[in-house]
Amino acid sequence: MSLVFVTGGTGYLGSYAVTRLVLHHDAKLALLVRAKNKKDAIAKLWNGLQMHAGAHESAASKAEWFERVLENVTFVSGDLTAPHLGMDPRVRSELAERTSSILHIAASLNRRSEKACLNANLRGTLSVVGFARDVIAKRGRLERFTDVSTVAVCGRRFREVVQEDLAIDWERSDYDPYARTKKFAEHMVEELLPDTDRLVVRPSIVMGDSRFPQTTQFDMVRSFCALADMPVLPMSGAARLDIVNADFVGRAIADLHLKRDTKHRIYHLSSGTGSKSAEAIGTALLSKYPSRRPPRFVPQASRAFEATVNRMANLPKGTLSLYGALLKVFWPYIVFDTVFDNTRVCEELGETPVPFTEYCGELYRWSREVKFAYPFVPLPERLAKLAAPSQEITTWA
Ligand SMILES: NC(=O)c1ccc[n+]([C@@H]2O[C@H](COP(=O)([O-])OP(=O)(O)OC[C@H]3O[C@@H](n4cnc5c(N)ncnc54)[C@H](OP(=O)(O)O)[C@@H]3O)[C@@H](O)[C@H]2O)c1
Repeated sequence: MSLVFVTGGTGYLGSYAVTRLVLHHDAKLALLVRAKNKKDAIAKLWNGLQMHAGAHESAASKAEWFERVLENVTFVSGDLTAPHLGMDPRVRSELAERTSSILHIAASLNRRSEKACLNANLRGTLSVVGFARDVIAKRGRLERFTDVSTVAVCGRRFREVVQEDLAIDWERSDYDPYARTKKFAEHMVEELLPDTDRLVVRPSIVMGDSRFPQTTQFDMVRSFCALADMPVLPMSGAARLDIVNADFVGRAIADLHLKRDTKHRIYHLSSGTGSKSAEAIGTALLSKYPSRRPPRFVPQASRAFEATVNRMANLPKGTLSLYGALLKVFWPYIVFDTVFDNTRVCEELGETPVPFTEYCGELYRWSREVKFAYPFVPLPERLAKLAAPSQEITTWA
C-alpha cells in the first residue's frame, strides 16, 4: 500500500491538497502535525478542512464528511525545526519503511522574519530531505519528492512572462527572506536528492476559491480589500496581477504529485498570460457594486505611497500598522507586472484557472462581512473521541 508523507497538511493550501488526495484519489496520508496530542492534531485538521465540507451543510454532515477523510489519515507528531523533525525514533523508522512518496508543503510565509524563514524553509526542508534519505535507505527508493515552492523565487522582475526553467537566476536579488529561502530550498532538494523523482510546483498569488467566497487565509485578501477601497491607486492600471484560485492550485498539487508520467520537473501553478490587470479587476468589482466609484490609477504616486506604507508599518501595533506591514511585503508583487507561464500545468491537468475577475466580487463581500476571520465551527466532541485509525503510527499520550 502506498503512503504519502505530507508536511503542512493543516495549512491553507495543504487543506486543499489533503482533501483532493483523500476524496478524489483515495490516497493514504501520514501528516506531520505540530500538536501536543491526537485530539489537538484532529482539531487542527478539522479547522483546516471544514471549509471544504460545504458552507451550508449541517454540523453533523460536516462531521461525517471529516470522518471519511480521517479514515485515510495518520498523524505524526513533529516539527520542521526540531532535530530529526521532532519524531520519535521508533515512529520515524516505521514511517520510513512505509512511506512511498513525500509531499512537502509546510513553510513559514512570514516575509518579515528572516529567522522564521531560515528555520522553517531551509533547516526544515533539509530535515525533510533527511527523512527522504531514510526512506531511500530502508525501501531502496522514494517514488517522488514534491516541493511546494513559490513563483517568488524568480527574484526582482519587471513586466515579464517568466518560464519555469528560467525563473531562478542567481544573479538577481530577492524581494524578501521568504523568497530567498524558498529559492535555496529548491536548490537543496535538487542537489541532495539527485536520483529521486523530484517535482517542484510554484504557486503564484493564491487568493480565494472560484466555487465559494470562503477562505481561511486573509493576509493577501486584506491587502486586496484595502486597495479596492482606495479611490486613487498608486500604480499602473495595466499592471497584471498573477492571482490564481486556490481550488486550481490544490488540485494541481495533489494530481501532479500522484501523476507518474509528468512531462516536466517544474510547474508554475499560476494564471500566466491569462492574468488580469488591476484595471480589469477594478471594473469587475464595479460591475458587482455599481454604486462604487471607479478607481483612478496614478502610477506617479507610487513612491509617496511606499513611504506612507513604510511609516504605517512602523507604527505601534494596531490596524494601521497591520495594513502597513501587509502592503509593504506584498507591494512589490502587486506592481511588478510579472506573470508566470502556466502552459505546462494547464496541459497536464486539461484545465485552466478561473480568472480572478470572475470571483473577486464575492470574495470581497464575504471577507468584509466576516471581518477577515473564518467562522470556525468547534470540533464536535464525537470526533475528538475517535479511536486511533487502524494504521496508526504515532504514540500519542
Ligand atoms: N498561499 C499562497 O499564496 C502561496 C503562494 C505561493 C506558494 N505558497 C507555498 O505553499 C505552501 C503552503 O502555504 P500556505 O499558504 O498553505 O501556508 P499556511 O496556511 O501558513 O500553512 C503552512 C503549513 O505549514 C505548517 N508549518 C509551518 N511551520 C511548521 C513547522 N515548523 N513544523 C511543522 N509544520 C509547520 C503549518 O502548520 P501549523 O498548522 O502547525 O501552523 C501549516 O500546516 C508553502 O510552501 C508556501 O511557500 C503559498
